[in-house]
Amino acid sequence: MAPAYTVFYGTFIDLPRSITEEKLALDINHGTLWVSSVDGRIKGFDWTVHSEKELEAFLQKEGWVEEVENMQNGVGPQEKVKIVRAREDQNEFFFPGFIDTHIHAPQYPNSGLFGSSTLLDWLERYTFPLESSFGQKEEEKEDEGKEVAPPRAHTAYKQVISRTLSHGTTCASYFATIHVPATSLLASLCHARGQRAFIGRVCMDNPAFCPDYYRDASAEESLARTEAIVSHIHTLDPKGTLVKPILTPRFAPTCSPAALSGLGHLAASYSPPLHIQTHISENVDEVKLVKKLFPEATNYADVYDRFDLLTRRTILAHAVHLTPDERRLIHSRQAKVSHCPASNSALGSGICPVRVLLDDGITVGLGTDVSGGYSPSILEAVRQACLVSRLLGHTLPAEKQTGREKLSVEEALYLATRGGAAVVDMAGEIGGFEEGMFFDAQLIGLGSPLSDVEESADLASGNVDLFGWESWPEKIHKWVWTGDDRNVGAVWVNGRLVHARE
Ligand code: GUN
Ligand code: FE
Repeated sequence: MAPAYTVFYGTFIDLPRSITEEKLALDINHGTLWVSSVDGRIKGFDWTVHSEKELEAFLQKEGWVEEVENMQNGVGPQEKVKIVRAREDQNEFFFPGFIDTHIHAPQYPNSGLFGSSTLLDWLERYTFPLESSFGQKEEEKEDEGKEVAPPRAHTAYKQVISRTLSHGTTCASYFATIHVPATSLLASLCHARGQRAFIGRVCMDNPAFCPDYYRDASAEESLARTEAIVSHIHTLDPKGTLVKPILTPRFAPTCSPAALSGLGHLAASYSPPLHIQTHISENVDEVKLVKKLFPEATNYADVYDRFDLLTRRTILAHAVHLTPDERRLIHSRQAKVSHCPASNSALGSGICPVRVLLDDGITVGLGTDVSGGYSPSILEAVRQACLVSRLLGHTLPAEKQTGREKLSVEEALYLATRGGAAVVDMAGEIGGFEEGMFFDAQLIGLGSPLSDVEESADLASGNVDLFGWESWPEKIHKWVWTGDDRNVGAVWVNGRLVHARE
C-alpha cells in the first residue's frame, strides 16, 4: 500500500498572500511539510526541523517511519511515509508550481516563428493556418463523417504538456482550436499526465474577420460544440480536481453578437459559473477594429460586459492599451488580467502597465501566450515582466515617470504563483505553501557552489553559477535571471510526481 503521507524536507520558498506590501519579500522557511496521498493537500508543516537528527525526532513524534526500498512489512506500529529531500549542498529548494494563465496549445509548433509580424497579420499568416490543421479534412473522415483528432494534434499536445511541466508549469489555462475531437484530446492528455488545466475550445464564428477555412459555421454551432467540450471535460473529471472547462471566445472581432451572448448565458447557467477566457486590448489596430465592429459599445471592455462575459472567473489576456474607464469596469466586475510580456515584445504590441493595473486593484498573473510568446517557460515570463517594466518609464512623459513602473523579481514571482492562482480563481488552493492547499510544486536545484567543486562545474547542468557566498534572496535572483528547465529537478501536482529530470 502506498504511504498515506509524503514528507517534504528542506528549504521552502514562496511569496506572501498579498502583493500590496510595500517591499515584497520572499517567505523562506526550512523544515518539513507533509502532504496527504489521498487528496494531495498540504496537511501541515514544521519549520523547526533543521537537521536529519531533528527530522528523525519529528518522525518518531508523529509515529512515522521512512519508507525505504524492499522494506519488509511489520516494521512495528509506525506508519510508513515517503520522504523527499531538497539537498542543501545542491542548493535545492521547493517552490510553488508556476501558473501559466494564457497559452495556446496548438500554436506550440510555431514557437519562434513570427518574423516581424504584428497581431492581425500574424493571425492570418502563421496562426490560423496552423490551428486549422488540427481538424480533419472532409476526405480524411471515416464512415459517417465521424471526426477524429489528426496525428499532429497528438504530437503537438503531448509535447506542449511535457515541455511546460518540465519548466515547472503545474497549472495552465489553454486555448485549443475550434475542433471538438482535438480539444477533447487535449483535456484527456492533461488529465492523464496530471497537469492541472483549464481547457477551452476556441469560439470564432464571425465571417467578417475569420477566414472561410477556419471558423464555426454559425453561432449555434459555436455554442453546441462548446457544450460538447464542457460535457466531455465534466465526464472526464466530474469534480474538476485536475481539468476544468473554460469558455473561450477568441476575441471580440472573431465572434458574432449571438455567439458572445450565448456564451455569457452558458457561463451563468452553471453553478458555480463556468470560467471564461479571451483577449483584450493587445494591439492598437485591434482596438480600432473593435471600435468599428461594435460601434454601440463604449469601449473594448464594454463589448464583453454587454454580453456578461466580464466575471470574477474571466481571464483577459494582454490588457496593454486599456483606458481608465475600462480598468474601472474590469475591477468592478473582478475580472482578471493575464500579462504576457514575451508575446507583447515579440509581436510589438506594447508594454502592459502592470503597476497601474495593480494600483487599480486588478488581479494580474503571467502568461506565456505561446506562440505569440516564443517560450513555454513562465520563468522566462517572470524575466520579461521585469525587463519590460524597466523600459516602461521611457515611454511615459517625464512627469509621469515615478520608478514605480518597475517590477521587482519578487513581485514578478508573485504574479507567476499567487497572482496566477487568483487569476484562475484558485487563490486559496494553489500558488503557495499553506495548510489545506494542493501541493503543486517544483524542486529547483542550482547546483553545488563552485568553491566546493574540484575542477570547474559541469557546464551541462545549467547556467546558474553559485560561488558559495550568496544569500537565499540572491540565489533566487540568480535563478530568475540565469536559470532554466535544467534547474527543475521534479514537479508535483496534487502531491503526485508528474515530472522528474533524468
Ligand atoms: N488575439 C486573437 N487571437 C489571438 C491569439 O491566438 N494570440 C494572441 N496573442 N492574440 C490573439
Ligand atoms: Fe493569446
